[in-house]
Amino acid sequence: MTSRTQVGIVGAGPAGLMLGQLLHLQGIDSVILENRSRQYVVERVRAGVLEQGTVDLMREVGVAERLAREGLRHDGIYLAFGGARHRIDMAELTGGRAITIYGQNEVVHDLIEARLTTGRPLHFELEDVSVHGLESQAPSIRFRTNGAANELTCDIIAGCDGFHGICRPSIPASQLRLYERVYPFGWLGILAEAAPSSHELVYSLHEHGFALFSMRSPQVTRLYLQCAPDEDVSQWSDDRIWAELGARLATDDGWRPNEGTILQKGVTGMRSFVAEPMRFGRLFLAGDAAHIVPPTGAKGLNLAMADVYRLAGALAELYKSGNEKRLDCYSERALARTWRAQRFSWWMTSMLHRSDSDNPFDHRRQLAELEYLVSSRAAMTSLAESYTGAPFDA
Ligand code: APR
Ligand code: PHB
Repeated sequence: MTSRTQVGIVGAGPAGLMLGQLLHLQGIDSVILENRSRQYVVERVRAGVLEQGTVDLMREVGVAERLAREGLRHDGIYLAFGGARHRIDMAELTGGRAITIYGQNEVVHDLIEARLTTGRPLHFELEDVSVHGLESQAPSIRFRTNGAANELTCDIIAGCDGFHGICRPSIPASQLRLYERVYPFGWLGILAEAAPSSHELVYSLHEHGFALFSMRSPQVTRLYLQCAPDEDVSQWSDDRIWAELGARLATDDGWRPNEGTILQKGVTGMRSFVAEPMRFGRLFLAGDAAHIVPPTGAKGLNLAMADVYRLAGALAELYKSGNEKRLDCYSERALARTWRAQRFSWWMTSMLHRSDSDNPFDHRRQLAELEYLVSSRAAMTSLAESYTGAPFDA
């Protein structure tokens, strides 16, 4: 079977689905092709911090009804070290910018609903997805459904297929520069049926390493512990997890996370990665396909959204006037935002994690950095500005 569309989108994560919605609103045809099942994509537990720009974008494209009801707006975060919690009032420091807690899988759920309402194509469980003719005027995507071969011809292909996708590896190696740092630790994350005991997130540095207190709803707490990158989850009984979280998060004022039934456990590795440029011929990369940040800065989802907002604007220009100027600037502009987020995510990660190669000097230096941070309005403003994120620009 052969078919045609204007923009072929590989991947139905937040990037691919948001791009499809933005293009739909401009009257541009797209087909979204995903290799996993709809259930897998919606149930995958990922990040949960939305920048103001992401919230605004969700609203702009008409998918923010549930977000407005269930999203939790946070004006500040806490940094904990040396037995005390210190609040950073981000809204006050940035002229009102805040973050909203809403699971990435909820974002994906809402975007899939919106896509289905438009009646535009979204296909799950495809096999052997591959991209071809990237330097031609008519690139194509091949894939199999129930064993049958299909080819979709496009004007443009958007590679929104995440870090392990096929789009980036389809670009000749000689045409890409890769920048990477793999960290010698990971995060053990849990979802627990427990009312959040703090209204806002707590990022903690303890002698045993990093811990993070977060949440998903007024009934569900999300918690993370620094661990080995290849940590075996089966070595972590529920009791051991709660004991370690208590040790790393509890502060001298008696605060500690509420405990409850653990609903889900998982380990994620930590990596900083950028592929440059984010374009090869008629293939444009967006989101995790082009860059990965360690989760400490909470930037992954937001960077993906900023990319596709920019890409959709450039494609709208192309179809309106035939002008490719904005498309030609896409990679350079998207990379500028990416590197700002890389810098911030690396800084948060190195300030808050302990590494086996650290010596006592390094730990004292980290504490000195945190002391400075929570006592300097300038330093707190810098953190707040990066954490809440700059407005998206097209
Ligand atoms: N063919 C089709 N789809 C694919 C293929 C393939 N060969 N390979 C991967 N995919 C799909 C994945 O199954 C996934 O649904 O592409 C999608 C990519 O989605 P994400 O990994 O969520 O990436 P992105 O949309 O860029 O969103 C970035 O994800 O990793 C988090 O923290 C990150 O929050 C950020 C967000
Ligand atoms: C989350 O709630 O999953 C979360 C919050 C903050 C982070 C990373 C993850 O920095």
